[in-house]
Amino acid sequence: MFDFRLAIAEMIVNQTELEISEISALIEIPPKEDMGDYAFPCFRLAKEFKKKPALIASEISEKINRTMPEWLEQTKVIGPYLNFYLNRGYYASLVLKTIFSELDDYGKSEIGQQRNVIVEYSSPNIAKPFHVGHAYTTILGQAIGNIYDALGFNTIRMNHLGDYGTQFGKLIIAWRLWGDEAALAKEPIAELTRVYVKFHSVLEDQPELEDQAREAFKRLENKEPAEVELWQKFRDYSLLEFNRLYDRLEINFDNYNGESFYSDLIPEVVEMLETKNLLQESRGAQVVDLEEFNLNPCIILKSDGTTIYASRDIAAILYRDRTYDYYKNIYVVGLPQTNHFQQVFAVLKKAGFAKADQNIHVGFGSVKFKDGDFSTRKGNIILLEDLLDQSVAKTKDIITKNNPDMSKPEIEQTAEAVGLAAVKYTYLKNGREHDIMFDWEEILDFEGDTAPYLMYTYARARSILQKANFNCVEFNNFDFTLLTEDDEFGLIKNMYQYPEVLIQAAEEFEPSIMLRKISQLARNFNRFYHNTPILKTEDINLRQARLALVFAVSVVIKNGLILAGIDPVERM
Ligand code: ARG
Repeated sequence: MFDFRLAIAEMIVNQTELEISEISALIEIPPKEDMGDYAFPCFRLAKEFKKKPALIASEISEKINRTMPEWLEQTKVIGPYLNFYLNRGYYASLVLKTIFSELDDYGKSEIGQQRNVIVEYSSPNIAKPFHVGHAYTTILGQAIGNIYDALGFNTIRMNHLGDYGTQFGKLIIAWRLWGDEAALAKEPIAELTRVYVKFHSVLEDQPELEDQAREAFKRLENKEPAEVELWQKFRDYSLLEFNRLYDRLEINFDNYNGESFYSDLIPEVVEMLETKNLLQESRGAQVVDLEEFNLNPCIILKSDGTTIYASRDIAAILYRDRTYDYYKNIYVVGLPQTNHFQQVFAVLKKAGFAKADQNIHVGFGSVKFKDGDFSTRKGNIILLEDLLDQSVAKTKDIITKNNPDMSKPEIEQTAEAVGLAAVKYTYLKNGREHDIMFDWEEILDFEGDTAPYLMYTYARARSILQKANFNCVEFNNFDFTLLTEDDEFGLIKNMYQYPEVLIQAAEEFEPSIMLRKISQLARNFNRFYHNTPILKTEDINLRQARLALVFAVSVVIKNGLILAGIDPVERM
């Protein structure tokens, strides 16, 4: 789309010695509506011209006024600033025509040039419950992947399963002693957790089990068929359960290589570090010293020759580089693992690995619940499935109350969509480094900053269009230039900014930046809806233009929600 900031910079640039990029970066969005749409501060030029900024502003203004382009209404000097007022009709026409011709693609671009971006997310541990913390990486990672896809990158979605470690020796022994095949088939993770917990509870009386577990793990590492078969079974069953959750949440992956996969690639890591002379012995273990990075040494091989979490991550990076020649390798993993990733990346940097700076840890905060809002069944762990079920149940009550004429199946469907969306939005709406506080009243508030609010706004827009029998195909006959009221102009501005915030969201790995714009658009839309007659507009051309505006808003809200992993419903 036409870049107004750049166009303004182009008008200024030939009157100065500065670079266009420098000018463009100086241009601001004024804090108040009546100060125009863009402002150029003249302090920076004051040095160059040795004149007062206000004088420079008025000189530039005069020159621009002589050859005013059609998209510009006027310029005004306000103190040291030169302020620009866009021609509202021109602006409306430009933005809406773009939206009408791009529809679902509005906001998308090709800036990624199909470069490979790996987004690793979810990565739960086999045989362990999928709790609300794993939902953070899962939902955030999916949204980041969607945004990169929309910007024309080739996204590779990886689930780095925790499928390796000494606990699998324990699990094998526990399973052989107490496993129940039927229970495993029915509720795999509950059954595996049951025997695993039992293993620990009998250890005091049967300490010999510890040694047996260690041996079982060794046999697993040596690829003994009996142990590998059991491990495979635990893995398959766990994935079956995880996939049920992923399907429900519409989460997808291209690759499920877990830690075990990379464990086999450790010799490559050792060889690389040995050729660079970076491996040192420390209390029997092989480590890389990271003092120059102010980090603790990174263990590569333990004294018994086995690998650790960090060495497997280093192996994974070498594998990803070789397999995908990635542009970015993004880890969506909680902030408590910051130090781990610093170590992993530092080892590679020290080894002279070319893409060491293209590995990015995208951290996030923790999940908390308002007191009494969640009774925890099993210890302190809150299962994602329980959270989702509760959200859907509560949403169903609200939808049933609000829509007495809705059929039962539609209520079920709508409640599932809105209930899941409410949870997803709660994970995504704030900056990711903030902790999340779940509070049902807040996240299901149809008037608050919530998914139900955004979805409701979308449904409202759709219902207006339906009442009017609106047809979006004829947009070339619409006169968008009639949309010049403040409320209308405000909405168009929000929509113009959507593609920009998408890029910013990708750069900062922050879907919240994009959602904030969508939420602002929805708020402004509801204000417009209350203040402005739409269906009742007398002038037929203005009515048509306003309906077109409603349609455009619905398109942009929908596009943003879809990138967040939320499918809006037509009615609720
Ligand atoms: N499985 C780990 C956990 O649940 C997270 C793995 C993160 N990814 C990685 N490449 N280390 O804590």
